Amino acid sequence: MADDIEPIVKRRLQGANTDHLSRAIYTLSLVETREYSVVVFMLPRGAVLPLHDHPNMSVLFRVLRGAVHMRSFDWLGAPPTALPVFDGLLTARDPVVTIRPEGGGVVHSIAGAGEEGAVFIDYITPPYYMPPNYADCTYYAEEAAPTEQHPRRVRLQRMNPPPEVRMECLE
Ligand SMILES: [Fe+2]
Repeated sequence: MADDIEPIVKRRLQGANTDHLSRAIYTLSLVETREYSVVVFMLPRGAVLPLHDHPNMSVLFRVLRGAVHMRSFDWLGAPPTALPVFDGLLTARDPVVTIRPEGGGVVHSIAGAGEEGAVFIDYITPPYYMPPNYADCTYYAEEAAPTEQHPRRVRLQRMNPPPEVRMECLE
């Protein structure tokens, strides 16, 4: 899969202003239909896609190149309380991560952790802004909210998109 996509990414990058590649998170939409979308993300080392969700969507996620540090949470019953699902490094050697509306890490952050950052791919169904959900992505701030029963419980509060997150679309 990575070998198929790399020439496309290179072709799209040709002639593009890449001065700010080191800071921005680049996205490249490969396919967009009413049923699903396939998007490649290029994350420089240290760049972070903060905690966000894909409401009522399913997402297949896989690293194509480099490494990411993913942290993910599932709601504990209903928002805003959640429990950690995963906190670790993922590379192209790891299997596809499946996130469903009801679990699998519905709220997650992804940081570029490889020497040269990371490239990963998302298959998202249904896509953002499409029926039946017309959903947008929400960002979350995390605060510890441990209980005796759930010492790793957190509270995830909705927040505005962080201004330091710069997403650049490669058309
Ligand atoms: Fe995501």
